[in-house]
Amino acid sequence: MQILHFRAAGVSVIIECPSDALPAILHWGPDLGVLDDESLAHLAAELRPRPDMTVDVPVRTPLVPEARTGWMGMPGLSGHHQGQNWSPAFTSVTYRQTGQTLTATARDEHARLTLTIIIELDHSGLLRARADLRNQHELPYTLDTLNLAFPVPGTPTELLDQAGRWAKERIPQRRPLTVGTHLRENRRGRTGADAATVLLAGTSDLGFQRGEAWGLHVGFSGNHRHYAERTSTGRTMLGGGELLLPGEIILPTGETYRTPWLYATYGRGLDQAARRFHDHLRARPSHPSSPRPIVLNTWEAVYFDHDLDRLLDLADRAARVGVERFVLDDGWFTGRRDDRSGLGDWYVDPDVWPDGLHPLVNRVRELGMQFGLWLEPEMINPDSGLARAHPGWILQTGDRLPPPARHQQVLDLSNPDAYSFIKERLLALISEYDLDFIKWDHNRDLVDAGSTIRVGRASVHAQTHAVYRLLDEIRAKHPRLEIESCSGGGGRVDLGILQRTDRVWASDCIDPAERRQIMRWTGQLLPLELIGSHIGADRSHTTGRRHDLPFRAATAFFGHYGIEWNLTTLADGELDDLAAWLALHKQHRHLLHTGALVRIDDCPENVQAHGVVAADATEAIYEIAMLDRPSTWPPGRVRLPGLDPSTVYSVRPLMPVTAHGAAPAWMDGGFALPGSALAVSGIAVPPLFPDESVLVHVIATSRT
Ligand code: GLA
Repeated sequence: MQILHFRAAGVSVIIECPSDALPAILHWGPDLGVLDDESLAHLAAELRPRPDMTVDVPVRTPLVPEARTGWMGMPGLSGHHQGQNWSPAFTSVTYRQTGQTLTATARDEHARLTLTIIIELDHSGLLRARADLRNQHELPYTLDTLNLAFPVPGTPTELLDQAGRWAKERIPQRRPLTVGTHLRENRRGRTGADAATVLLAGTSDLGFQRGEAWGLHVGFSGNHRHYAERTSTGRTMLGGGELLLPGEIILPTGETYRTPWLYATYGRGLDQAARRFHDHLRARPSHPSSPRPIVLNTWEAVYFDHDLDRLLDLADRAARVGVERFVLDDGWFTGRRDDRSGLGDWYVDPDVWPDGLHPLVNRVRELGMQFGLWLEPEMINPDSGLARAHPGWILQTGDRLPPPARHQQVLDLSNPDAYSFIKERLLALISEYDLDFIKWDHNRDLVDAGSTIRVGRASVHAQTHAVYRLLDEIRAKHPRLEIESCSGGGGRVDLGILQRTDRVWASDCIDPAERRQIMRWTGQLLPLELIGSHIGADRSHTTGRRHDLPFRAATAFFGHYGIEWNLTTLADGELDDLAAWLALHKQHRHLLHTGALVRIDDCPENVQAHGVVAADATEAIYEIAMLDRPSTWPPGRVRLPGLDPSTVYSVRPLMPVTAHGAAPAWMDGGFALPGSALAVSGIAVPPLFPDESVLVHVIATSRT
């Protein structure tokens, strides 16, 4: 039997490839070094499961686990031909290997099903897999589930994933990993503000820089599941896939279902696990490579109050402070004076914009900025011309309309007429205004999402793929256009949507005290250049808290920078302060958007720190923030990980900050230390008030 050993960036994956059974991962984790065939065979024999007092033969855990082998955990494939063939047996398998990509084609001769599994290890050490299931039986195959599962070696003891809600996304949650299943199912028809995002199993000492973690991400924007399973025989599996609604996929003869990509990351610490995703994304040809333009988004500045003179004033001031992309948010299309009506009527409202958007767009362009527009293409208000003309275009089932959410319903994009209408509208707007950017929103969950053209059958799968197709078609026609994935803030953050978008709006909460947590954990999946982060008004619109500009600006600094603030209310001095922050960001965005994210462990009480280290470790920027008053004073020290141990670095504040007490030496004229000392001894946290932070600039001066 063939045994493959893939290696990349400190990760080894050993895959057993029998000709009479599905491929199984025997090891996924730290690099095992070069292994010759003999060593590999010995190791594989050692890693193979042994009889575990259930059935008399060892129970394997292939990527699609099969119950017929005696596996008592979550099966990979569940489905049937009208009640028959409910327990699959893929017993004839062929393999094709190209580099570190393996394709296994497996047949269940009796059920006449073909399962094709692709598994690949990329240069970053990120493992990913997906499967195609083809029905060749004369009966239709009802597919209930197709999960892929990755065995985790050893005995991790902790689980870490994410929860969240609107305006408070990606809250980490940690719990012991015990026998049983930790199941995160999503039926929202979108990724969800409460998505698991990355489900990690880790060692008890797991931190950003330490311990070990194995993580899974299902790259899909519709219903999906992540699970972690510990069996009574001591196996640990991380699995997941699309969550299919009853009867959603019934494969006629000759038809194929494809799972989303599942991404599996291993890291010595959470940062390394995150970095594999970042490196993978950064290597894509479609990854944004131009400097991320600083955005002004009009939403929290004017909401639905679209007044041309005010918006022109806003554009002038935006350009004055250094904004590079002006984005007109919700409120510009027919009948959209508030959130109760208009979605679907994607024509510029002549009552508000008698000359179209041209006067604004022209001014924005004259000022040297790009122009972007908010759209919510998948949605429809019952109070719209579109809904009145085409009531059957609303996703629904059982002769009833789903309950409204934000007064809206979902447009059935699996309906070719609705799809063509929306595509035509989008292309017309992109062309008329030569749009540089679309903020593509999606503000409600899918409830009772049946399609009238499929007699009410569940349609989340079809809807999700129709949205993907729409995005793909638009991008193919307008390759320069950038698209932001927004879903009531950060409700659609996943690698499926990110194959066809250029950034996410991480949250509708811009309050820096909360936003910094959201950014920190969005970073478990995405690099900073893909995470939209704006400076809002001094008083947060979502929490009512007040913060000074430096804290708001320093928090947003670590992302795709922007402003969401009514600049027309600012005095000249305030505009100058803001301009200084934007200029500083422009100076350093290359580092921030190409370097390695480090989140720092063991900070003193109520201190939070993170940073970005340049790919060649010649420079870094860290932020040290005081979140609340600590119970001891002075506040202690923060380590600066990620630097080259044998390089000497100068350390100084990036922006002047007033310390409330004796400033540490590094703030008072700066100092120099080797990376080895900075990683271990760190630097003193300056005496700061709560909700203040300091940016630390670290530059290589010489090698020791
Ligand atoms: C959602 C988005 C906001 C804004 C509004 C407009 O809530 O998350 O940023 O675009 O819609 O209605």
